[in-house]
Amino acid sequence: MRRIPGSMGWPIIGESLSFIKEFSSPSGIYSFMNKRQQRYGKVFKTSVLGRFTVFMTGREASRILLSGKDGMVSLNLFYTGQQVLGPTSLLQTTGEEHKRLRRLIGEPLSLDALKNYFMFVNALAVDTLNGWLGRTVLVLEEASTFTLKVIGNMIMSLEPHGEEQEKFRANFKLISSSFASLPFKIPGTSFYRGLEARNRMYSMLDEIISKRRNGGDLRFDFLQSLLQKHTKEAEMDKEDEEKLTDKQLKDNVLTLLVAGHDTTTAALTWLIMFLGENPDVLQNLREEHMDIQSRYGETGLTWAEVNNMPYTIKVINETLRRATILPWFSRKAAQDFKIDGLEIKKGWSVNLDVVSIHHDPEVFPDPEKFDPSRFDKPLKSLSFLGFGSGPRMCPGINLAKLEICIFIHHLVCKYKWRPLQNDNAVQPTLVRMPKNKYPIVVEPL
Ligand code: HEM
Repeated sequence: MRRIPGSMGWPIIGESLSFIKEFSSPSGIYSFMNKRQQRYGKVFKTSVLGRFTVFMTGREASRILLSGKDGMVSLNLFYTGQQVLGPTSLLQTTGEEHKRLRRLIGEPLSLDALKNYFMFVNALAVDTLNGWLGRTVLVLEEASTFTLKVIGNMIMSLEPHGEEQEKFRANFKLISSSFASLPFKIPGTSFYRGLEARNRMYSMLDEIISKRRNGGDLRFDFLQSLLQKHTKEAEMDKEDEEKLTDKQLKDNVLTLLVAGHDTTTAALTWLIMFLGENPDVLQNLREEHMDIQSRYGETGLTWAEVNNMPYTIKVINETLRRATILPWFSRKAAQDFKIDGLEIKKGWSVNLDVVSIHHDPEVFPDPEKFDPSRFDKPLKSLSFLGFGSGPRMCPGINLAKLEICIFIHHLVCKYKWRPLQNDNAVQPTLVRMPKNKYPIVVEPL
């Protein structure tokens, strides 16, 4: 049996201190993995946050860790994430319960259901971009506001402006930053503030749910579609596949917000940044969109056009490859098993290094180059994991693509832009985002 190289650091605390420290370094949490890979190779062991941890990469590891075969692994959330999201979150369930939740959640996120939100997303993108002229624009801030308004409206018909939206945004920001915080439940800490904000968000949802139950407010949104299948815990018939308790409903609404917001924000921001750095790609993309615009003329973008943007989809994929906004996917071993002849023990945290997969020169020659034509032909399975793979593959893929396609369409048809700073540093968050928020100024085309 091969031994896994690496250092377990200090007794009890292991290498947790350097793990936490690397979060705030210019290349963010990825540098923890990168430094050890240079010392030990692509597969190494360590001990972080109280757990024996292994990092690995390659097809065999992807196949075993992502297929979720025979309940070998479960998703491995930080303690803070587990506490904030609650035990019935999709991210904390496994096996049949996970499948059932995915099915329920998947329906309102299907292309068919998303069609209902097209007009809202389109109008919001136009409105957001109208406010960009004549000032410094922090693309990350704008992308964050845009994607939060989309998901708030989709989930619970929240209006894009007004007091409710402000409260929702303030609570969400606290929740989001508590994920990468230290796990101290002491008043004043990020974690504590995140939990309080979660409770306020749940009260807001309770109010909306009770209004809807009393027939006072009928909407066609995600919450409504789940409420129709939903019943109170006491009435829950265990045989009924379609029912969710209030707790399950709230935990999973929050899960979608958390899983869908930072990821889409980061993707949209990196994409605009890569376009700024690659004028040829921008030119090709603009041609696709000008052509679309010339077809629809005065009537405005249509649903059919949004679903026919082949070059844009390649640009999105190349963005997710090049930026790899989730640098690794984390799993917990639910039993002993082997990967590439290495023994993995039950309870270990096993992390798939996706950065190395996305920068494998055999699959992606000159991997640092931003080149959407890499996606001209289908790739071998498991070589591109922008939205993951297997039973935990992203259920929000259609929504994310819809938001990005619409926003990019209006951006490239309306403006050219210039960055005000060049800085490669990333934020101290789990999802990789540019630290300077990509400041730009725009001019009409
Ligand atoms: C460009 C934007 C997005 C990217 C790059 C992205 C990426 C991913 C990836 C890579 C995974 C799998 C992680 C793993 O296997 O450990 C995932 C899972 C997930 N994503 Fe996304 N995502 C995006 C947008 C969204 C949106 C908009 C939503 C919801 C509205 C969403 C909801 C989820 C959920 C709930 C999971 C967990 C699925 C499960 O455990 O079964 N994501 N996403």
